[in-house]
Amino acid sequence: MKVNAWNEWDPLTHVVVGRADGTMVQAPEPAVVRDWPEYGFPRGSYGPLPPEMVAAANEQLDNLARILEGRGIRVDRPETLDFARAVATPEWSQASMFGAMPVRDVLLTVGNELLEATMSFRSRWFEFLAYRPLIESYFREDPGMRWEAAPKPRLTRASYREGFWEAYEALSEAEQVALVRRGELVLSEAEPLFDAADVARCGKDLFVQLSLATNRAGGRWLRQHFPGHRVHLVTFGNPHPMHIDATWVPLRPGLVLHCAERPAEDELVQYLKVNDWEIVRAATPQRAGPPPLSACSRWLSMNVLVLDPGTVCVEASETAQIEQLGKLGFEVVPVPFWDVAAFGGGLHCATLDVHREGVLEDYFP
Ligand code: ARG
Repeated sequence: MKVNAWNEWDPLTHVVVGRADGTMVQAPEPAVVRDWPEYGFPRGSYGPLPPEMVAAANEQLDNLARILEGRGIRVDRPETLDFARAVATPEWSQASMFGAMPVRDVLLTVGNELLEATMSFRSRWFEFLAYRPLIESYFREDPGMRWEAAPKPRLTRASYREGFWEAYEALSEAEQVALVRRGELVLSEAEPLFDAADVARCGKDLFVQLSLATNRAGGRWLRQHFPGHRVHLVTFGNPHPMHIDATWVPLRPGLVLHCAERPAEDELVQYLKVNDWEIVRAATPQRAGPPPLSACSRWLSMNVLVLDPGTVCVEASETAQIEQLGKLGFEVVPVPFWDVAAFGGGLHCATLDVHREGVLEDYFP
């Protein structure tokens, strides 16, 4: 047992797969607005996702675990907590937690280091606890593992821009994207904040998306924390940026899948081009929109899990995406996964690499 993963594509040998049990539409909090009246969750309401949705998601998560185990990959699962309970710090209280599905949001593996992200939602402040039994066991089993946690955030009112959502929803999409490009979204710069899923790893280069969950101070903290890496703070033309893995997905050395609806900055495009990387526009998803109660977009179609530089897991009904990756030379493993979307994402979101073979390399020399 060894913690080691430098990028998104080296051969995967050990992974964590999340669980849907107890996931909540979380109680209102400054970081996020949930408003799904057509599915029984009008703005301000909260509660557990329906049991039949939980059962369907768990079936697909268990199936993913079996597929990975069948390929010789060690799979671990988190503990679930009572996510319906209220939580508090000395500075605030929050009427519910969220869940233990998108493992990728909370934890980041860089080499032998497992880093707990700050998170930026009060409902997700304690989510690391769902993974602690696993992390403790890795720490016991692997003497070389480095266990780190970013500064626990305070998440007081000062961490959020006052009145952000009301003002933001009144803007045109172009005006919203202008704020995205400036990194002036719901999070203030009072303290470092980031979700692990805003980071895409390419060996010595870490691409960190500024988003609704990651602020500049979070990017600065990551840059200081990984002095041996080039940490790029990047934005995309997406009015609701949240996690980089349905927008900018490195597949193997020299190849990144990109959501064309969310254009990258020229600077980022140039950086790849001068290093002979190819940027491929992801195939159009099969769906017109996300499923009920999902905070994600239809672009979960490109939220793929690379098993090794020639093999990739893709959602089974995303036939155009499957075909595109086949043409790019991948063996595609189709995995039914849309029932998991409401629980926080796709195949990449739902997993965390604990171990991929391989060493630190510079792919942008
Ligand atoms: N916000 C992204 C989208 O809807 C989904 C990414 C989810 N990723 C994750 N790690 N939870 O396009």
